[in-house]
Amino acid sequence: MVTCSAPGKVILFGEHAVVYGKTAVAVAIDRRLYCSVERSDDGQTRVNGHPISETYHGYTVEAIRKVDIREPLNITTSSDIYSGAGLGSSAAVTIATLGALHRLKGEAPEEEDVARQGFHIECKVQGSASPIDTSTCTHGGAILVSSKKLRNFLWKMERGGTSWNVHEGSVPGDMTLVVGYTGVHAPTSPLVTRVRNFCARNTFARDMVNEIGEVVDEGCSALERGDLERVGELMNRNHKLLKILGVSHPKLDSLVKASGKYSYGAKLTGAGGGGSMIALTDRPEKVAKIISLRGGVPFVSGLTHKGLSLEKDMINIQ
Ligand code: MEV
Repeated sequence: MVTCSAPGKVILFGEHAVVYGKTAVAVAIDRRLYCSVERSDDGQTRVNGHPISETYHGYTVEAIRKVDIREPLNITTSSDIYSGAGLGSSAAVTIATLGALHRLKGEAPEEEDVARQGFHIECKVQGSASPIDTSTCTHGGAILVSSKKLRNFLWKMERGGTSWNVHEGSVPGDMTLVVGYTGVHAPTSPLVTRVRNFCARNTFARDMVNEIGEVVDEGCSALERGDLERVGELMNRNHKLLKILGVSHPKLDSLVKASGKYSYGAKLTGAGGGGSMIALTDRPEKVAKIISLRGGVPFVSGLTHKGLSLEKDMINIQ
């Protein structure tokens, strides 16, 4: 049996607009998904005991195709990343599964290759995607995605005429984030499709995407300077633009507003439509309490530098 793990993530700035090539910043969080794989003589591939299905295990099905393993497998996952919560559980399952399957085959691909495969899987399963989630879950730490090639460049991804340069990002060391999960399950794919349709027929939506791009570029400079006040203001602005774009939810708006009292700023994180919000604060207990009082599930999120990791290999023991 081989076990790999990958972290969840939160997007500090730029979700949705990044799908159209705008800048975005994400950090890997210290919540992880573990995927164990082993060959099976059951005659059928199972995920957590259930026969594998395109409907329920789309990312896993595609990962098996990419790595090209044809024998039946037993796949088990465990995770403390809420799913459909904007916290990168789809990217984490994709990346941890790719890592474990490659290892099971005796392969040791470069980090970039796993991130690329993960990105193509997300594009296929979700209809469209940017490389931010899969790159963050593969590499860990802070990730900056931009149309321009900047310093600390990691890799470039291209698809359908859009290209993204992926870099190690820099975030202030003293930055504390509180995540508030609304409890509303909101898978990414329908939200990405909603924005895509909105942008296809409406110049106003395209203007919103461009404006998010400008806010995020300024947000990145503020992050580099360590100017938390300005970062917070720009997070608030980013949230308002995402709300206009139609991807917020009343519960997200309520948690964002309530956190404002004790935060530099707050916004939804990930695809929206429910899921989670983040607040940048130096009073995490106060923010966590107010999120709970408003019916959200809070946790203080630490950043992790641990990306895709091999946890256990009972096959290729060295
Ligand atoms: C989801 O975490 C982030 C989105 O921008 C989609 C993507 O970038 O693939 C909504």
